[in-house]
Amino acid sequence: MRKKLFAGNWKMNLGPTESRELIAALRADLDRDAATLSRDREVMVAPPFLSIPAAAQALAGSSILLGAQNAHFEEKGAFTGEVSAPMLRYFGVSHVIVGHSERRHIFKEEDELVGKRAAAVAGHRMTPVLCVGETGRERDRGHTTEVVLRQLQFGLAPIGPQDSPRIIVAYEPVWAIGTGRTATPEQAQQVHAAIREALGDRFGKETADAVRILYGGSVTADNIDSLMAKPDIDGALVGGASLRADAFARIVRARIG
Ligand code: 13P
Repeated sequence: MRKKLFAGNWKMNLGPTESRELIAALRADLDRDAATLSRDREVMVAPPFLSIPAAAQALAGSSILLGAQNAHFEEKGAFTGEVSAPMLRYFGVSHVIVGHSERRHIFKEEDELVGKRAAAVAGHRMTPVLCVGETGRERDRGHTTEVVLRQLQFGLAPIGPQDSPRIIVAYEPVWAIGTGRTATPEQAQQVHAAIREALGDRFGKETADAVRILYGGSVTADNIDSLMAKPDIDGALVGGASLRADAFARIVRARIG
């Protein structure tokens, strides 16, 4: 059984104090059911870099996982403005988002760079959460699968078989991010199934069956249950709705199975 993962991507929101407050509120809600929830699901939050130390402290003793939103592929050096995988690991980060559409589109990160970042994360024994997704234009032109599978192929190119079961893929259609327009569960399922098939071709069926594929893009407490009802949707990467403890906790309590 693949444990579901509900991950909050806080993007460039919440400094250290606000991060502590949100985590405290989230723990007050979720910790009391931790034993039940942890049977079939995991929870993760990915604060901005500067809030990670405070978040790590606030999460002490909790089963909520700590994520980051990016990582450089080198361990150190002349890379102004970047943060490396070992720096994140030092603070207890276990998951790192790579190739988010905002990185790809606003900061022009290309497929190959995303792959190098993913490999560095995996190489430091953390889990890369590789984001893929088509723009509205690409979908309208019928290029969804081609775009998503290309991003997947490049993103995973440097990942060896030893690291492959640990990876997580997040399908985030660009047109659904921050727009209030969610992909329908059927649209998402179709892409997730194509991703799983491609993972099978690359790493074999056993690994493909173990890898979690998250959906992201305007996920809310109102649409999460219908998304989770689909066989290849293994959780959610949540932006806006993860910034409020009550809204995110309701998503974490999604109906499963
Ligand atoms: P929203 O949930 O705000 O649409 O953001 C999704 C996202 O980009 C998560 O990484």
